Amino acid sequence: MAETAVVTPDTMQTAQWTKKDLLGLRELSAVEIRLLLATAESFREISLRPIKKVPALRGKTVVNLFFEPSTRTRTSFELAAKRLSADILNISVASSSVTKGETILDTVKNLEALKVDIIVIRHAAAGVPQMIARHANASVINAGDGAHEHPTQALLDLLTIQEKKGRLEGLQVTILGDIAHSRVARSNIWGLTKLGARVTVCGPPTLLPVHIEQLGVGVTYDVREAIRTADVVMLLRIQHERQEAALVPSLREYRLRYGIDRDRLKLAKPDVLIMHPGPINRGVELDSNVADGPHSVILDQVTNGVAVRMAALFLVAGASNKPNGGEPE
Ligand code: CP
Repeated sequence: MAETAVVTPDTMQTAQWTKKDLLGLRELSAVEIRLLLATAESFREISLRPIKKVPALRGKTVVNLFFEPSTRTRTSFELAAKRLSADILNISVASSSVTKGETILDTVKNLEALKVDIIVIRHAAAGVPQMIARHANASVINAGDGAHEHPTQALLDLLTIQEKKGRLEGLQVTILGDIAHSRVARSNIWGLTKLGARVTVCGPPTLLPVHIEQLGVGVTYDVREAIRTADVVMLLRIQHERQEAALVPSLREYRLRYGIDRDRLKLAKPDVLIMHPGPINRGVELDSNVADGPHSVILDQVTNGVAVRMAALFLVAGASNKPNGGEPE
């Protein structure tokens, strides 16, 4: 399917998911991204039911294999699997045989011997999910690899913007903060631009990758301009865990120059959306009165994370049931 294909309700019905894995938005077509979003939309109401469960993935086994900390992603994959009636295993890497020197591939081969169907993996090194996907028969979903991609985070961000604004095409999205070390920024740039949004990245020069404009985004160091023109402002925290040296003089300096507080928000459009993938460093990139204020959709992003992860699990599992056709058990 061509990337430029226009998806109408008719073509959506015939759009097919053919991939074993979900590794990044770079490799997906606009049609595939829209199919993921449409599937997530149809799953959203299941979480509003008194009994939040459908049998779509009954008999399937999902394993969460997280080599880095996580609150939102790990728990929402677990909830998503449970709401689809899959069995879910959470492997604590700190207490697994990885600490005794077992390789990741050996760990994965052993999980496959236990007949798992889907491996959800987060790792500090870029490319690990892709490497596992090449060697495993099980489906692999990337839950974040280094500074490379975090596809389900970007999908839930797209779903939230679409829910709040009614569209993605033609919107101006500013991504503000530590772009250089952000897998969230990269996945969002791929997803937003493929679906017709305009993206500008903003931050200190030391936190913007060289040649980032080659991804089809605008670049500015002027936070006031970046805020003024935006329909959506997506904040990122400074990711110290992926920095080899201090790249900003101090957090206080960063807050003064790039942080969003109530005064800076006054520059924005009256209906601007404030987004953040979490975890927030309150008082650094975002003040509490903005994070908890009327423009913030940060907790809506978290809510949409479950529907997006249900869609991802459902599609890679190749389930034949209709997404919303299952009755509560
Ligand atoms: N946004 C995100 O990935 O959050 P966690 O690190 O808590 O999973």
